[in-house]
Amino acid sequence: MTTWHDLLHCPRDGGTLAAEAVAGPATFRCMTCGLSLAPAGGVYDVLSWEGGAAVEQAGELELRDREAEGYDDVRLRIAGGLDLAHVGEGLTGPSGGAALDLGAGTGRVTEMLWRRFARVVALDFSSRSLELCRRKHAPARGDAACLFLRGGVERVPLADGRFDLVVSNDVLQYVPRPEARQAALDEAARVLRPGGRLVLNVYNYNLRHRLGPQDGRHSAGLPYHRFRPSELLEMVARAGFTNAEARPILNSPFGAGGGLALDRWLSRLPFAGLLGRSLLLTARR
Ligand SMILES: C[S@@+](CC[C@H](N)C(=O)[O-])C[C@H]1O[C@@H](n2cnc3c(N)ncnc32)[C@H](O)[C@@H]1O
Ligand SMILES: [Zn+2]
Repeated sequence: MTTWHDLLHCPRDGGTLAAEAVAGPATFRCMTCGLSLAPAGGVYDVLSWEGGAAVEQAGELELRDREAEGYDDVRLRIAGGLDLAHVGEGLTGPSGGAALDLGAGTGRVTEMLWRRFARVVALDFSSRSLELCRRKHAPARGDAACLFLRGGVERVPLADGRFDLVVSNDVLQYVPRPEARQAALDEAARVLRPGGRLVLNVYNYNLRHRLGPQDGRHSAGLPYHRFRPSELLEMVARAGFTNAEARPILNSPFGAGGGLALDRWLSRLPFAGLLGRSLLLTARR
């Protein structure tokens, strides 16, 4: 049985957890405060210990739960898998390593992680999305290689410096306040080991959108923030990352393969940061 108590900490006080030996996902007990963390349907819910989701994100949480079932198909229609092709290129790490998917959703990226890493944590505040993520995982790997955590990206109950990779695809733009977005990046930096990698994909405040405000709302009412490349680079530097690079990802009409080639070519242009639906950022801890 894979144990997780070296990676997972008490969501109340950060205390060390001990695993109670049971078949399947274990129940953990905090050695400091005695809190018992039992999985429900294979998912550990730490959100309530963190005070729940931010008030501004209550609508998003409900929407993500409601639309989880059709989410993968919608994404395929919108982006043709190009985001996954870009992000997938950055998902490298040592064999036997640990990876964290921040805002894992239904597991489109998580799936790529558990093929490449020995241990994977999928964190999201939508329990329905995590259920679907787990359903993809269970047949192939049982509950051994992935820990499903229902929690917020701004406060992560995971140990310092133990992860080789943190990835977050299309999540940070939905975190409503700048301090909360910075907190999520600070958490990513904290859990990574020195030299560990960050792969981030976020909305770009590109040339077309600069005719309008940087913050907006999708038709379903979902609020979002678009990042300027310089803003994103400053935020990751503040969190303690180095070697950061941000390049644009377009919505390509040529499918994932052709899109990758086109985007790589475009990112060499001097004004590349003004193009692209989103920005792909890679950095090192
Ligand atoms: C656009 S989806 C992307 C999901 C997945 N990364 C992918 O690429 O398919 C955004 C995800 O972020 C999650 N999310 C947004 N804000 C969050 C927060 N503050 N804490 C945890 N999850 C959050 C949502 O529930 C949703 O699953
Ligand atoms: Zn505790």
